[in-house]
This record gives sequence, structure tokens and C-alpha cells, in this order.
Amino acid sequence: MERPLSLSLLLSLLLVVLASGQRSQKTQTRNRNGNPSPELDDLRRLGLGNIINVPLYSDVPQSHYDFIVVGAGAAGCTLAARLSENPQWSVFLIEAGGVENLVHQVPVLAAHLQATASNWGYLSQPQRHACRGMPQNQCALPRGKVLGGTSSINYMIYNRGNKRDFDGWAAAGNPGWSYEEVLPYFLRSERAQLQGLEHSPYHNHSGPLSVEDVRHRSRLAHSYLRAAQEAGHPKTDYNGESQLGVSYVQATTQKGRRHSAFRAFIEPIRQRRRNLHILTLARVTRILIDGATKSAYGVELTHQGRRYQVKARKEVILSAGAFNSPQLLMLSGIGPEDNLKAIGVPLVKALPVGKRLYDHMCHFGPTFVTNTTGESLFAAQLGPPVVKEFLLGRADTIMSSIGGVETLTFIKVPSAQSPPTQPDIELIQVAGSLASDEGTALAKGANFKPEIYTRMYKDLADRRQDHFSFLIMHFSPASVGRLWLHNRNPLEWPRIDPKYFSAPGDVEQLLEGIKEAIRISQMPAMQAIGTRLLDKPVPGCESFPFASDDYWRCSIRTLSYTLHHQVATCRMGPESDPTTVVDHRLKVHGMRRLRVVDTSIIPVPPTAHTNAAAFMIGEKAADLVRADWS
Ligand SMILES: Cc1cc2nc3c(=O)[nH]c(=O)nc-3n(C[C@H](O)[C@H](O)[C@H](O)COP(=O)(O)OP(=O)(O)OC[C@H]3O[C@@H](n4cnc5c(N)ncnc54)[C@H](O)[C@@H]3O)c2cc1C
Ligand SMILES: *[C@@H]1O[C@H](CO)[C@@H](O)[C@H](O)[C@H]1NC(C)=O
Ligand SMILES: *[C@@H]1O[C@H](CO)[C@@H](O)[C@H](O)[C@H]1NC(C)=O
Repeated sequence: MERPLSLSLLLSLLLVVLASGQRSQKTQTRNRNGNPSPELDDLRRLGLGNIINVPLYSDVPQSHYDFIVVGAGAAGCTLAARLSENPQWSVFLIEAGGVENLVHQVPVLAAHLQATASNWGYLSQPQRHACRGMPQNQCALPRGKVLGGTSSINYMIYNRGNKRDFDGWAAAGNPGWSYEEVLPYFLRSERAQLQGLEHSPYHNHSGPLSVEDVRHRSRLAHSYLRAAQEAGHPKTDYNGESQLGVSYVQATTQKGRRHSAFRAFIEPIRQRRRNLHILTLARVTRILIDGATKSAYGVELTHQGRRYQVKARKEVILSAGAFNSPQLLMLSGIGPEDNLKAIGVPLVKALPVGKRLYDHMCHFGPTFVTNTTGESLFAAQLGPPVVKEFLLGRADTIMSSIGGVETLTFIKVPSAQSPPTQPDIELIQVAGSLASDEGTALAKGANFKPEIYTRMYKDLADRRQDHFSFLIMHFSPASVGRLWLHNRNPLEWPRIDPKYFSAPGDVEQLLEGIKEAIRISQMPAMQAIGTRLLDKPVPGCESFPFASDDYWRCSIRTLSYTLHHQVATCRMGPESDPTTVVDHRLKVHGMRRLRVVDTSIIPVPPTAHTNAAAFMIGEKAADLVRADWS
């Protein structure tokens, strides 16, 4: 007989998993025959095995593989899954983090994952022109450290980019990367279930990665969408013919649960694919390179205190992400001559690794209060009934809200020099704020000083006052940062200095974005729900008249919030371009049998969030590798 559903059991399990990011990662290092923990047994008995499914990914390395893929993130999982479709090829996928648990699958808890062992937890160098709301002006730079990489801890927004982005890559000397040529690779991975887009030529319905509407929507989102239209922004599919306009967000979720690169590409093939070996909790420390032939022939890694050398018969492929791929290149002697000399790594090949770093910087806010009730996201709503329904498979509750993100609006700003079809700013509308989780995960994830919550948002939480916020995101920053190593210890952080807002024009474009959000808030559909600007001044900006241009400029430099779209640290381009690291086939210039396949190759910031591009790059790289070795 089935045991009756014990609600307290389910809840306590959720809490156990929540509280023990670290511990549950460790339990997954046992071999495939290890005993699952008692909680998991309980869940399986309840028929919830599929939700928690704790697979064990601890294949002991063999001495040789055809391909070694370093890093199981969005691009790495995609590439490893595609390459191992060929049964003649053996593939070894190495990941520094552990395996996802139940919490990763709950979209509303996205911010909480940044407080677990699934986040590398980097901080930026102190910023001179930004991040003033953070201790020492250090912005948080989270990155996924788990099978699935950053796709397992991100906000799940699915967004590809503007046609011009990719046409620009191609025009810069990267044949094969124009929009027309990359669209098939976006489509290859997509399995869309989007209302009204069933027949769109811009969406596929049979790929491995699920893309869906978020089925929980607040009234605030509906009112905002109408107001944006009233303000002249047409309703659009931002992944379709034209980005400009307003859309409900498209999410990488499946039936209301996070669909990461791991869930989409690895989990479904794990049992059958004998030629794909996967090792988690394993840190690659160096690429093995034959200096005479400049050929990569393997990697060195540490796993549970042991050091291994694993050889690649065909290629070593770095998919360690925009911070760690450049780090590994430099640790292996490929990078700027001066940096390598300073840390005592013998030079193999001088290349501008890490010399450029672009990101998408946002302003956190403005926040608007409304006279609705029960529409905003508050932690208290995640009570036992909702948790139970989620565990039983419901996909339309607040648990499936992707951290509160509901709509995206792609706009042009008056001062823009960019072509008319290319948006400059994105307005990301969120049904909440730092009040949603009472100043905990979201504020900590951004490294905001506590007074930002206590002075601006606590009152909203205390009164459970409905409200919504914007993240205003700037697509084409003129500020350029960089990344370097300060010593040769592979277990230390690279130094990351994004130099946010070092170009003042970036602040001005965000200011124009803020003004447009305020203009939309004054449209009839917003006024009908009593929308007004939250008028609690930003700590540190009190000396400026509230909501004046200078006030907002101060706010932009204080409530600086990155959307974590770091790119270009291993920039793609022709060898004749001295700013580039890999060619259009993603091969490291001047090296043999070594590629980089992840978002670090993106040459300039795209007009989009970067996760979809990571999947596309993985798909396309698989074809490039196949073409070279078949
Ligand atoms: C908090 C957050 C929210 C975001 N929200 C969105 C969003 O809503 N939509 C969107 O499009 N984008 C979003 N992004 C960005 C997007 O998720 C990333 O750009 C994208 O997933 C990066 O993919 P990748 O394959 O380049 O690298 P990653 O997915 O970061 O993969 C790199 C992998 O390599 C592993 N690794 C690194 N070094 C080593 C080593 N030495 N040895 C072994 N393994 C190693 C890492 O642990 C990681 O698993 C978000 C990012 C963050 C941090
Ligand atoms: C949709 O995805 C499947 C599976 O990846 C692929 O075979 C098919 O070609 C894709 N369709 C389009 C139109 O790209
Ligand atoms: C909300 O505000 C609008 C506009 O001021 C008003 O018409 C409406 O009655 C208000 N609703 C409530 C519930 O207060």
C-alpha cells in the first residue's frame, strides 16, 4: 500500500535540502552502487523519484579518451551530449561542482542557490564608478558550480539575441556565425511550448531543452503589459522577427521546473551512453601541452585529494565559463606575456586572454507600489500548501515563478547611436523586490549593504505591500573590464575587474531606461491599479532631490546590479585581430587540439541574456568538431 503523503515530511525535506547545499553535494560522490540517504528513499516511495533523482556521477577516470570537455555548464553539457552521440568516440566530461538537488528545480528559489555550494561566489575587484551599495564597492559575481553550470543557478530567462549581433560577429571575420547560420543551432536544442507561437518559424518543438511560458503570472504583469502597449511598445516575441516591444518572459523550465543543461542534455542519456564518462567534484588544474608541437594532449585534475592525468587522443575542449576558461589557459601558459611572467608560468603562446571583459550592467529599480493585494511575491506565500502542490506536479503556482521575473521590454533610447532595429535597454519587470525574501537571498546574492533593505524595502515587507520592480539593463556598454591571475595557484580566484560604468555614457543610457519605465508607470493601465514610485531614497543618494537626474545617476552607481552576462575573455576572431584568442572554429590561435566552447568566446556583448547563446555555441561546436574528425 502507498504510504499516505506526509506534508510535514515533504516540507522538512525541502528545508533539509535547502539548508544543506554543501552536504547534499557530498553525498553524491559515492559510486553508482552507493546507498541513497534515507530522505531520498522516502521521496522515492512517494513516487517523487523523478523530482529529486539523485544520480551518481563519479566515473573513475580512464587513462585516455578521444575528447575531454572541461566544465559541465550550459555549453559543456550540450557539447558532451552531442559528441557522445557517435558511439565510436569516447568523451570525458569533468565538473568542479556536484549534482543538482530538488531546490535547483524550484524556479522561485533561484536567488537562494547563490548562497549554496553551487555558486563559485566570486566578488569583483573594488569598483571605482559602481557597486557603491556594496561593502568595499565589490559587486557579487556568481557562477554555477554544479553539473549544469550556471544554467542550474540562473534566472531561466530564454533569450537569443538580435540578428545584427550575429551578423556583426560574422562581419568581424568569423564565417559561419551570421544570424541565418546560427539560428538552426538555437532551434536544434529548443523544445518550445509557447502560447500563440505554435507555428512560428522561430521556434522548434522537438529539441531537448524545454522553453515555456511561466504559467504563474501576477495581475501586475498583465497591467504592465497593457501599459507598455499604451506607451507605444508593441507586443512581440523577443526571440522572433523583431525584439523591440514587450513580451511575457520565455523560460527554460519544464512543467514549471528548472530545465538546466544537465536536465536537458545529460540526465536523459546517462544510462545508455556508455562512451560518455562524467566526473563531478573534480577540478581541472592545468592543460597538458606538448611545447614543441603546441598540442594539447590532456588535462591534470584533482578529485577527492588525488591528482590524475587524463589524456585526450583527439582534443581538449574548455567549457569552464567566462572566468575559468581564461584562468585555465593562463595556468597552462597561454595568455598575456606580462601576466604569465609576473606569476612565473612559462609562456607557451602569447594571447590576450582575459584582456577584455564585457558584462551587462543594470540598475536595481525603480520600484513601484500599487494598490492591489496579494499579487507581489512574498516568502510567506511559499507555505505548506504551495510546496505540496509543487511536489505533486502543479506548474502554475508561485513556486514556478522564475524568481519573480514576468515580462521583458526591449526599447530604444533617444540618445542611442545604434541601428533602429537594435534595442539599447531592456526593462525586466519583477513582481517583487528585496522585500520579497525579507532582505535575505536576493540582497546577499547581490552583496548589497544591509541598509539598502532596511531603509528602502523593509517597510514593504512588514506591511506586505504590493509592489513591483524593474531591473534596467544596458546592452552595449562602452566600459570594458579585464581578468588576470595574481598567482599560479589553480585553486585561487582569478582577479576580475569589470570596470563597470568607467564610461559615463553607460550611466546616461540607463538613466534614459529608468525614465521610460517611469513613463510606462503613468499609463492608464498602471494608474488603474494605483501605481506610484516608491519614494524611499537610496542610502547615499539622499543629498540629491528625489527622482532628479542626478539622484538616478547616484542610484545607478549605488544599486549596481550585474545580470552576469560576462563575455569576451577568450574572444573569437581572426588571428590577425590582436584582441582575439580563438578562431571561428573555436580553436585557440597557434595551438593544436585545443578549443574553447562557452560564453567566453562571444566577441561583443549581445543584445540578450547569454544562456541561450551558450547552448547554441555548444550545438555549433559539436558540428565543428565533427567536421574536423569525421
Ligand atoms: C545568477 C545568474 C542568473 C542568470 N540569469 C540568466 C537568465 O535568466 N538568462 C540567461 O540567458 N542568462 C542568465 N545568466 C547567464 C547565463 O546563465 C550564463 O551566461 C551561461 O549559463 C554560461 O554558460 P557557459 O557554458 O559559458 O558557462 P557555465 O554554465 O558557467 O559553465 C562552466 C562550468 O565549468 C565548471 N568549471 C569551471 N572551472 C572548472 C575547473 N577548473 N574544473 C572543472 N570544472 C570547472 C563550472 O563549475 C561550471 O559548471 C545568469 C547568470 C547568473 C550567474
Ligand atoms: C528541432 O529539434 C530536433 C532535435 O534536435 C532537430 O532534429 C530538428 O532539426 C529541429 N527542427 C528545426 C526546425 O530546427
Ligand atoms: C486603486 O487606485 C485606483 C486609481 O486611483 C482606484 O480607481 C481604485 O479604486 C483603487 N483600488 C483600490 C482597491 O483601492
